Amino acid sequence: MDASLLLSLALSAPLATLLLLAVARRFRWRLPPGSLGLPLIGETLQLITAYKTENPEPFIDDRVRRHGPVFITHVFGEPTVFSTDPEVNRLILQNEGKLFEVSYPGSISNLLGPRSLLLMKGELHKRMHSLTMNFNGSATIRRHFLLHIDRLIRLNLGSWSGRVLLMEEAKKITFELTMKQLMSIDPGEWTESLRKEYLLVIEGFFTVPITLVSATYRRAIRARTKVAEALAVIVRQRRREREEEKGAPKSDMLATLLVRDERFSDEEIVDFLVALLVAGYETTSTLMTLAVKFLTETPLALAQLKEEQEEISAKKDLLEGLEWIDYKSMPFTQCVVNETLRVANIVSGVFRRAMTDIPIKGGYVIPKGWKVFASFRAVHLNPENFKDARKFDPWRWQKSSSGNIYTPFGGGPRLCPGYELARVILSVFLNRLVTRFSWVPAEEDKLVFFPTTGTQKRYPIFVKQREDSAWK
Ligand SMILES: *[C@@H]1O[C@H](CO)[C@@H](O)[C@H](O)[C@H]1NC(C)=O
Ligand SMILES: *[C@@H]1O[C@H](CO)[C@@H](O)[C@H](O)[C@H]1NC(C)=O
Repeated sequence: MDASLLLSLALSAPLATLLLLAVARRFRWRLPPGSLGLPLIGETLQLITAYKTENPEPFIDDRVRRHGPVFITHVFGEPTVFSTDPEVNRLILQNEGKLFEVSYPGSISNLLGPRSLLLMKGELHKRMHSLTMNFNGSATIRRHFLLHIDRLIRLNLGSWSGRVLLMEEAKKITFELTMKQLMSIDPGEWTESLRKEYLLVIEGFFTVPITLVSATYRRAIRARTKVAEALAVIVRQRRREREEEKGAPKSDMLATLLVRDERFSDEEIVDFLVALLVAGYETTSTLMTLAVKFLTETPLALAQLKEEQEEISAKKDLLEGLEWIDYKSMPFTQCVVNETLRVANIVSGVFRRAMTDIPIKGGYVIPKGWKVFASFRAVHLNPENFKDARKFDPWRWQKSSSGNIYTPFGGGPRLCPGYELARVILSVFLNRLVTRFSWVPAEEDKLVFFPTTGTQKRYPIFVKQREDSAWK
């Protein structure tokens, strides 16, 4: 099956491209400028080599210089329009389901599961999406989760001493938090063994789609089946408990999915849970790690954040949890959060497909059926949009608002439902970290942007408990 799949990909991609180009010429569409590279592989190899450097946007920078802010290329088997223009990006995000629809490479959809939120379209997406958004809305849930977040973070930090691999620790915290929020499952052996399988799934996401037949990818697919089975057991058990009215009612995501008269099937719920796990895990833990790295490298910002957080902690009893009002009184920390999201751009952009011919600025047309990539990172790192764009400068957020060109969580109907949660987790984490520890980097470590944003060595640091730390 794999071989025939590859073969058909190999045959269909250049043919489809030629056909599209022929049609485009015939109707005198003005395609945006650019090059489709070699037949079949297009410019995929250039893309991959480019991202092995330290520059966050080498592939895009180079093409923007040559062709302007919107250009065509050919990557991962398809001709694609790349947009680095805030106006065109907005058009793409706001017209979800009308002019553009979601479209991810096959390797990613297989891993996510056919019914995952990322891939859903139309009505079903609307229903699921509003569920996750409502979830964020209620005050009780907020209080409830803030307590969990705080407790779990404290518990994890409690075991830190000496040399710590920050990225690994952040991942552990994020996974445990997500399991708790989704299914009220406390950390233990079960979550650790699930996490091991889950790590294999994540690896699969970052094998390049050319290697659809690679061992890593096959292992990831197998691991996904195991994760889905484990989750399905929980879903069935909870459904039974609900029907028999056994056990205390729970207030987690799964309860919301089961309670509604939406009649989601077990399979739908499992795919949905897997997608939320994927969405939260890698992104939030990277955000936590990079915020600490940027702060470490910007001592003035760290000092200011520490002062703000110490003021909040000084007002509280030793073991009292942080509350919503505390979260809402960290203005400088919020600048640090925004700036980390802007510089690191953990989700660099989104893929869509044009549902019809779409005229864009400059007199160009995105032809129906073409893949589109809206790059958020290119907008956030463009000096025309942000002064000294490649510098970490949290104070810029005190000076002026970014208007609507800043979209770290996407936007429109597919705005990332976890955007507030990610901010809360990072803020609580920073509070507990700076009030309890001081730290220094254990080694030189560099930012990398491929296959995902992160650091080369997972950011090792030496932590030391602060002698004046108010809590243990
Ligand atoms: C999520 O919760 C925050 C905090 O209450 C609120 O400001 C925001 O509007 C909520 N988002 C949605 C889409 O309901
Ligand atoms: C951070 O960015 C959000 C948009 O995602 C914006 O609404 C908010 O005002 C910004 N915060 C600060 C402190 O500038």
